[in-house]
Amino acid sequence: MRERRLRTDALPRHVAIIMDGNGRWAESRGLTRNEGHNAGLEAVREVVRSAHELGVRVLTLYAFSQENWNRPQGEVDALMRLLDRYVDSEVDEVDRNGIQIRAVGRLDEVPGAIRRKLDVAIERTRGNDEMVLVFALSYGGRQEIVDAVKKLVAEAESGKLDADAVDEKLVASCLYEPDLPDPDLLIRTGAEWRVSNFLLWQIAYSEIHVTNLMWPDFRKQHLVDAIIDYQQRERRFGQTSAQVRDSGEGEA
Ligand code: IPE
Ligand code: IPE
Ligand code: MG
Repeated sequence: MRERRLRTDALPRHVAIIMDGNGRWAESRGLTRNEGHNAGLEAVREVVRSAHELGVRVLTLYAFSQENWNRPQGEVDALMRLLDRYVDSEVDEVDRNGIQIRAVGRLDEVPGAIRRKLDVAIERTRGNDEMVLVFALSYGGRQEIVDAVKKLVAEAESGKLDADAVDEKLVASCLYEPDLPDPDLLIRTGAEWRVSNFLLWQIAYSEIHVTNLMWPDFRKQHLVDAIIDYQQRERRFGQTSAQVRDSGEGEA
């Protein structure tokens, strides 16, 4: 029988979430898409609290993709305002709970006032070490890799880097937040089985959990369910099942 209890000794260190389905959640209720985004804010609040309570070390939330800039301007504006509201309403509690805020993405494309507010929150929480909360904002996995390649090319052009020195470690060190561990668990709400340009490099060996729930309905119990699902997986990293069992390292 499958064990359905959460094991606190085998938590994913880093959980990354593609928060999808706000629009469909709203449309099925006769509401506007922006009302769906507003409802999604409550799920963000709850998931941040829950991840912290459970003992997750890093939580990355995909808040706005590079491609989301192509949505209608009114929706883009509403999503930006929402981020602003989240920072306003949550930063005190987040800080009190010892959570450190970070942001990844092409943040120079985010409206100045919001970026500055986010910068203040990042600065204020810099010394916190209970959990790292990362907002992927104006984020694209391909763009992140392009930005890393640009850094490497600049170093090579200045004569400081030789092609032979380029390896996985060096490429990873040029990503946006190189000190964070790769996600162990990637959750996607909204019933869509795709990664939509999220953390392409970092999810090479992440366990993926897709749920049919729309993001505004996501609550602590669903995070717990996703982690339990993760804990049933055998992480083989290319090895055989027997090798993993012998080494005891494949357990979630
Ligand atoms: C996720 O919900 C929010 C963002 C992408 C910013 P969607 O707005 O994509 O909702 P659906 O997928 O249309 O239902
Ligand atoms: C992914 O959702 C981006 C975020 C959740 C921020 P989308 O709704 O933009 O993804 P696609 O377009 O369905 O792939
Ligand atoms: Mg969507």
